[in-house]
Amino acid sequence: MDTEADFPVDLPAMNNVQLMRYLVFTHHEFTRNIMDEITELIRSTKTALPELPADFNTLADLWSGYHKEMRQHLTDEERILFPWIEESTAAGKTPDEIARHYSGAIKQMLLEHQHHEDEIKEIRKIAESLSAQGSHIPVLALLSYKLRQLASDIVEHMRIETEMLFPRILNKIKPS
Ligand SMILES: [Fe+2]
Ligand SMILES: [Fe+2]
Repeated sequence: MDTEADFPVDLPAMNNVQLMRYLVFTHHEFTRNIMDEITELIRSTKTALPELPADFNTLADLWSGYHKEMRQHLTDEERILFPWIEESTAAGKTPDEIARHYSGAIKQMLLEHQHHEDEIKEIRKIAESLSAQGSHIPVLALLSYKLRQLASDIVEHMRIETEMLFPRILNKIKPS
């Protein structure tokens, strides 16, 4: 694992509660908005193009599953896991108690991160090939661009949680 020094300069200085709020107000918000834009672009492509490229339906199917699962993941963190951690911290639970209590929930989130990163890579690959085939079609170029933006934000978001926030909660690394 890399050291915390690899993260944007202000993140390591945040405590866990600040870090969770930062993730919700930046990455979660961005992800939700861009996923809605992508869903809308897929819908408008279907109506705008008289003939859809062969892989377009595969992309649309993968995307609708991805959108649903990712939205659920964000909600689970925001409404369940993060508030639990915040309440336990405010109630004065020790880092060991918190780590013991939430290790199962965090393991589940980590599994989902891996799945989300693998799936977005796949979706992006199809979108890039569609945009290469139809670079003269603006809606496909825009779709591919938005998926690229989402994928690179997801990498940073998952990395902050997987390499910094969750190891801290599991008491494997200490805040700087
Ligand atoms: Fe998150
Ligand atoms: Fe997450």
